[in-house]
Amino acid sequence: MKNITFIKAKNADDLAVLSADFFLNTLKSSNSPPTIILPTGFTPLGFYKEVTTRYKNGDKNYGNFKYLALDEYLGLPEGDRRSFASWLSREILDPLEIPKEFRLTFASSTKNIPEECARMEKTITDIGSIDLAIIGLGGNGHVGFNEPGSPLDSVTRKIELTPETRQANAEYWGSIDQVPESAVTLGIGTLKKAKQTLLIVLGKSKAEILKKTFFSPISSDIPSTYLQKQENVTVIADAEALLEIESLIDINQCKLKRA
Ligand code: GLP
Repeated sequence: MKNITFIKAKNADDLAVLSADFFLNTLKSSNSPPTIILPTGFTPLGFYKEVTTRYKNGDKNYGNFKYLALDEYLGLPEGDRRSFASWLSREILDPLEIPKEFRLTFASSTKNIPEECARMEKTITDIGSIDLAIIGLGGNGHVGFNEPGSPLDSVTRKIELTPETRQANAEYWGSIDQVPESAVTLGIGTLKKAKQTLLIVLGKSKAEILKKTFFSPISSDIPSTYLQKQENVTVIADAEALLEIESLIDINQCKLKRA
């Protein structure tokens, strides 16, 4: 087990502030615009609001990065409001005025999925590094759309979404029928290339999977367990999400007790 830094947020608002501070550190420590993966979901919403407000109030550091897509639904026309590219544009990229050429996204309408996945892998190789991967945690341990069963050395590829994940995502769109059945995602092997990883977790419903992420055997059954061996992992989680794990970690030292 690598040393994992845990930062406890008092609540969702505090998580937003702490995550925005962490993000700023990465931006300030890079000479050229760093490449950063950003997640979708409910968890990052407050963080995106905090970052876009700081930018609007004059901190232009926040606009200086390249966005690398983590995942995307398949079969949606370009610009469909349900696509993750559109979602992230609305929530963070447009408010931060990230130039189009700094948005490394998937084409959700692609007819040639293997070619699109290979293009994304090549894009990452050409850039040379993923400076920071900010990720959320699915209720079943999925990361991006790496569902349980995803090999821990997997690359970018097509995924059939589980009913559980489609249901969780249906909340955005009103009904499960609105949620596409398949998606593309960066692989776990791809995510391992990140120099730094920030996992953000909110709420009681994630407490058990957060514990399993760090205390279950590393296995493709719970893709998020790859984080146990990853270098430079920071977890920012609220008190409710930390409920199951708090007795196992040294929150003062912000490190896992178990080595
Ligand atoms: C989706 C996304 C993931 C995200 C997860 C958790 O499935 N593909 O990247 O981490 O949802 O979302 P939430 O923050 O809403 O719990």
